[in-house]
Amino acid sequence: MTTSARHPAARVVDAVKVYGRGDTEVRALDGVSVDFPAGRFTAVMGPSGSGKSTLMHCAAGLDTLTSGAALVGDTDLSALDDRRLTLLRRDRIGFVFQAFNLLPTLTVAENITLPLDLAGRPVDRERFDRLVDTVGLRDRLHHRPAELSGGQQQRVAVARAFAGDPDVVFADEPTGNLDSRSGEEVLRLLGRTVHETGRTVVMVTTTRSPPPTPTR
Ligand SMILES: Nc1ncnc2c1ncn2[C@@H]1O[C@H](COP(=O)(O)OP(=O)(O)OP(=O)(O)O)[C@@H](O)[C@H]1O
Ligand SMILES: [Mg+2]
Repeated sequence: MTTSARHPAARVVDAVKVYGRGDTEVRALDGVSVDFPAGRFTAVMGPSGSGKSTLMHCAAGLDTLTSGAALVGDTDLSALDDRRLTLLRRDRIGFVFQAFNLLPTLTVAENITLPLDLAGRPVDRERFDRLVDTVGLRDRLHHRPAELSGGQQQRVAVARAFAGDPDVVFADEPTGNLDSRSGEEVLRLLGRTVHETGRTVVMVTTTRSPPPTPTR
């Protein structure tokens, strides 16, 4: 994993996550400390069952640590009540899942702006247009997810994750359900977005190919 003198966009400190108890106890994270540098692309790699998804979920505030701290900027997630955690997730974090998690009844355009619409935030047209062109979905905006290929659906999910201009986007094997060509396309897209927008991306990947853009 990369480290940087720059202020991290997110980090975990002495992170411990224990699932279950007694005989069925699983220590998924056992004292992990890692910084995710701002404006960089960080790849998280490791064997199946090593705790990568657990790390992503806890760092993104989708799950809580057993002990230790998860921070976004200077905000310790464990210090927030449910409502404030929900707001922080909505306003400062994007997430791309392995299964695209698009809403089937909404069009591509509606899926992309969903986080903003839920937040009651106005959609900045210029920003939206730029995002749509970056992900190459201009001619699919009024289609529904079922009418798109897997790669196209994942590009919608990427656009949605970036739509609210979050501080950090976490992606858990975003290419896992794609063939290698669409997978590479999504990786390139994530890399280009980091490069062009200065956003921070933390991505779990099991592929051995290097990150799409040099990080230093
Ligand atoms: N909800 C849960 N309850 C109990 N154990 C869990 C739960 N979620 C994960 N685990 C266990 O925690 C460990 C880490 O799981 P995790 O999903 O974080 O691994 P991973 O690195 O993402 O694996 P993969 O590459 O297969 O996705 C595994 O041993 C898993 O069985
Ligand atoms: Mg996983």
